[in-house]
Amino acid sequence: MARRKQIYEGKAKILFEGPEPGTLIQYFKDDATAFNNQKHAVLEGKGVLNNRISEFIMMGLERISVPTHFIRRLNMREQLVRHVEIVPIEVVVRNFVAGSLVKRLGLEDGSALPRSIIEFYYKNDELGDPLVSEEHITAFNWANPQEIDDMMALALRINDYMSGMFAGVGIKLVDFKIEFGRQYEGDMMRLIVADEISPDSCRLWDMETGDIMDKDRFRKDLGGVTEAYREVARRLGVLRENESSGARGPVLVSDNEK
Ligand code: TMP
Ligand code: ASP
Repeated sequence: MARRKQIYEGKAKILFEGPEPGTLIQYFKDDATAFNNQKHAVLEGKGVLNNRISEFIMMGLERISVPTHFIRRLNMREQLVRHVEIVPIEVVVRNFVAGSLVKRLGLEDGSALPRSIIEFYYKNDELGDPLVSEEHITAFNWANPQEIDDMMALALRINDYMSGMFAGVGIKLVDFKIEFGRQYEGDMMRLIVADEISPDSCRLWDMETGDIMDKDRFRKDLGGVTEAYREVARRLGVLRENESSGARGPVLVSDNEK
């Protein structure tokens, strides 16, 4: 049997040609990177967890009519997605101060923002994904003004949806990053959510304890990365206790789900 064709390999995922035109298979690796690849590790089971968490969130977005690339999950590590032309902009939405915002503006880590703030970063690894303004985006034709408006409106809806979803399971959505793709259908083009939405791309803090439940555990060498991701998955109800994520180690058991 012929090996399927690899289209692209990123830091945490591989894209293969899909079974029919206009589709791709998105494979979630266990690799974790931070600080533009300066730090790398393989975290056994992370890909399985992110596959499930991203599926769960994308399906939730579809239910509130936010279009996404997600079609269906194929297996533990793969999902079938729509083939899109990725907009080279990372859209970040922030509800609380954290990460680069602390450094850039000298604000207090964890403080509430007066309102949700949207930022754009140019997707370019060599440049370390620099912060850019709408002026840069339109001047260099990375996206047009209508697309910027659409991305902002969708990002705010996604923020409202995800903030509520996570609050319901005791998790504070501090910030997150999303990517959009252009889907062409005949003469029509629409922007849909692409890539992944997972603890790799969100900041998630336990509402009670303040515990970090996202990739900052890896960035800051806090340990327990996959355990934290598994707890996010468990709270969202996407992993049953007896289901293996492929990772060894302690399995979290919840009292209210026995
Ligand atoms: P930042 O505070 O480092 O700018 O990150 C903001 C959000 O974006 C945070 O939830 C982590 C996420 N993010 C990514 O998903 N990929 C990246 O390359 C970076 C730098 C941040
Ligand atoms: N995703 C980026 C990297 O792999 C940065 C980060 O998430 O901190 O280097």
